[in-house]
Amino acid sequence: MARLLVTGGAGFIGSNFVHYAVEHTDHHLTVLDKLTYAGNRESLAGLPEDRVSFVLGDIADAALVDDLVGSVDAVVHYAAESHNDNSLSDPHPFLHTNLVGSFTLLEAARRHSVRLHHISTDEVYGDLELDDPARFTETTPYNPSSPYSSTKAGSDLLVRAWVRSFGVEATISNCSNNYGPYQHVEKFIPRQITNILRGVRPKLYGEGRNVRDWIHADDHSSAVLTILEKGRVGETYLIGADGEKDNKTVIEMILTLMGQPADAFDHVTDRAGHDLRYAIDSTKLRTELGWRPHYQDFESGLAATIQWYRDNESWWAPAKDATEAFYARLGQ
Ligand code: NAD
Ligand code: TYD
Repeated sequence: MARLLVTGGAGFIGSNFVHYAVEHTDHHLTVLDKLTYAGNRESLAGLPEDRVSFVLGDIADAALVDDLVGSVDAVVHYAAESHNDNSLSDPHPFLHTNLVGSFTLLEAARRHSVRLHHISTDEVYGDLELDDPARFTETTPYNPSSPYSSTKAGSDLLVRAWVRSFGVEATISNCSNNYGPYQHVEKFIPRQITNILRGVRPKLYGEGRNVRDWIHADDHSSAVLTILEKGRVGETYLIGADGEKDNKTVIEMILTLMGQPADAFDHVTDRAGHDLRYAIDSTKLRTELGWRPHYQDFESGLAATIQWYRDNESWWAPAKDATEAFYARLGQ
């Protein structure tokens, strides 16, 4: 049994990891989360109190972070400002959390010689052409496009420097786009599902040719546990499940699964600097550590996710109006 500090454990992917680790390990998990607009205590409801404890706080609070890191065996660092569209409207919180917050955790990990796993994104690599036969690998050069992806790239580089200069025992994973329950309604898939549930047409940026490489959040969590258990310190692992789909196809699939005509969506203003395509080659994680995704069929994972949003309106409804008001101001 290990004691893990999970930063951002009340967010979409962090809470998935907490649920997953409670079910599949005997670790004790301490969640550190600031409960920004993206954090939700309800995402951790029903978990056993002897396995999971919750601390409300900021990862950039050095004294608090020092105390918490000093009392665990490993840190799993999910906390971030995570939405591209928000980063285009107001980059400041992205610098605070993604850069200063990650720095604060690294300094505490250094002082206490505690293992750290840093969660990052494939967006640090920029984007690919639609017909590029290559996919992202661990050696693809960094080329981020937005304030979100550039601050995530900066945090990855801080981790690499703290490994090399100070011997911090850290690993990094860069994962593709996640879907599943408990994802905030600002993100693409839950926004469209909850629009349809409210009788509003889904909103597609531009022509919707942009490609994302979808992975179920449970598979992201199983990969992170695998890296924590078997990953080599100082290494980066890419996480992906061969789930490339363009946005128009995904919207049509959601509409069809929800019993609507496949063309019942609106084209809206495109995102500034919109990355065209992400695609992950996860060969290293699969061959070196033996990881495999469980969800091979995107459509059935999507159908289960739609059902979850149907059944859990009380979880997502409180955030829906403010999110749509934000998009309306952007013409999206
Ligand atoms: P999210 O926005 O749903 O959750 C982020 C969580 O971090 C929230 O609970 C929030 O309250 C917390 N938080 C924010 N600032 C904080 C601070 N200063 N101190 C403490 N807690 C703070 O994000 P997510 O989609 O779950 O993403 C989690 C991580 O996974 C991020 O690091 C993100 O870059 C990475 N990632 C996300 C995706 C994706 O598809 N969503 C893909 C690859 C990687
Ligand atoms: P998003 O979920 O914001 O993830 P990311 O920007 O990290 O890939 O968006 C996924 C894709 O969907 C992206 O290409 C932008 C597009 N998109 C829409 O077409 N409509 C929407 O309402 C949103 C939120 C996103």
